[in-house]
Amino acid sequence: MCFAVVPAICMREGFMDKIKVKICTGGRCFMQGGSDLLTYNEFLDESLVAKCDFEECNCLGECKKAEKSGLEPPFAVVNGKVHDDMTPQKLYRVIMEQ
Ligand code: FES
Repeated sequence: MCFAVVPAICMREGFMDKIKVKICTGGRCFMQGGSDLLTYNEFLDESLVAKCDFEECNCLGECKKAEKSGLEPPFAVVNGKVHDDMTPQKLYRVIMEQ
């Protein structure tokens, strides 16, 4: 009986729909503006923050490919998709598109 109840509660509370946001705190990203992304509590409203699972992570390896890919740090991953040149405004926009 518990197995039937728990998923229903999770669905109602939205636990299964959380947007996964990984913010790179590796050296290059951090120095190129990634540190601003860590203040998401200041530039995202409370309800939006509640819809997301934020995670700080070490270098994603994207900066090493940047020369060939043309992508620029700082990097963040939102629901598995890598986004470059991330700013607080861009992070807000990407989260809103999910
Ligand atoms: S430091 Fe962020 S991808 Fe390498």
